[in-house]
Amino acid sequence: MTEQNAHQVADWNGQSGEYWAANQARLDAMMAVFGRAAIEAAAPVTDERVLDVGCGAGASSLDLAARVGAGGYVLGVDISEPLIDRARALAPQDTPVLFRVADASSTELPEGAFDILFSRFGVMFFEDPTGAFAHMRRALRPGGRVAFVCWRGVAENDWVRLPMGAIKDIVPLPAPPGPEAPGPFSFGDRGRVMRILTAAGFTDITITPFDASIPFGEGKTRDAAIDDAVRMAFEGGPLSLVLADQPDDIRARAWAAARAAFAGLAGERSVMINGAAWIVMARNPAS
Ligand SMILES: C[S@@+](CC[C@H](N)C(=O)[O-])C[C@H]1O[C@@H](n2cnc3c(N)ncnc32)[C@H](O)[C@@H]1O
Repeated sequence: MTEQNAHQVADWNGQSGEYWAANQARLDAMMAVFGRAAIEAAAPVTDERVLDVGCGAGASSLDLAARVGAGGYVLGVDISEPLIDRARALAPQDTPVLFRVADASSTELPEGAFDILFSRFGVMFFEDPTGAFAHMRRALRPGGRVAFVCWRGVAENDWVRLPMGAIKDIVPLPAPPGPEAPGPFSFGDRGRVMRILTAAGFTDITITPFDASIPFGEGKTRDAAIDDAVRMAFEGGPLSLVLADQPDDIRARAWAAARAAFAGLAGERSVMINGAAWIVMARNPAS
């Protein structure tokens, strides 16, 4: 691995990687509708070759492999060893998919070898996104296409906006990351995504909003589902670090406040929370 993205490599092999591996089935259920929308945009057909960037535990890679069939293949690349281990364990035998622990922004990739560059929430973590996309573009055949899904901004994503707003008077929140800092919301600005892809050499770029309700909490009862939603919010994503070193009484107050914020949302044995994403498509020029 390179020096670049060292912080992300540490996090996805540490706290975030462990959280995603431990909650893999839950997170796959939450992300499924977004992944399906991006796959529809990619429109893979039989025999195509797909690079799945930041593939995590591989759910999207397996869906893509089912679409391209035995005559095609999918290469899933991710910096996280625990998630690639999980992906390899979950992949049925004879599926045309390979998983590699590697930094997609710098790993050696065969030139012009892929028809599609795909990602489900795996491209927002590069320190140098333009360099990363330029590198990955060289692995696409001339005329090859890009399709990925990424989050819009925090303000539009209730699964983080609501709990953050609920606890802001209980525990000090860190300053928001800079607009260019790698992280889940770093592609929230449509203009920035357009600039990155243009500078990386892509054409025919379209960036379309896609909204869906996420089953954030689940449980046998409504109360259990709300507690589960609070746990998901506090253990993963931006809030996990905010509460990490707080005393028990602060954590309890924060829990109660987030619980109250989630209690008003729809769902019977779940908590359905709005998620706001972009579906991004682009093309590698034909020559
Ligand atoms: C939010 S998770 C999404 C995982 C998976 N695509 C999914 O939808 O379940 C982001 C993923 O991007 C991976 N990632 C971050 N930076 C990366 C890089 N430079 N190269 C490859 N993978 C990276 C992380 O390890 C993590 O698995």
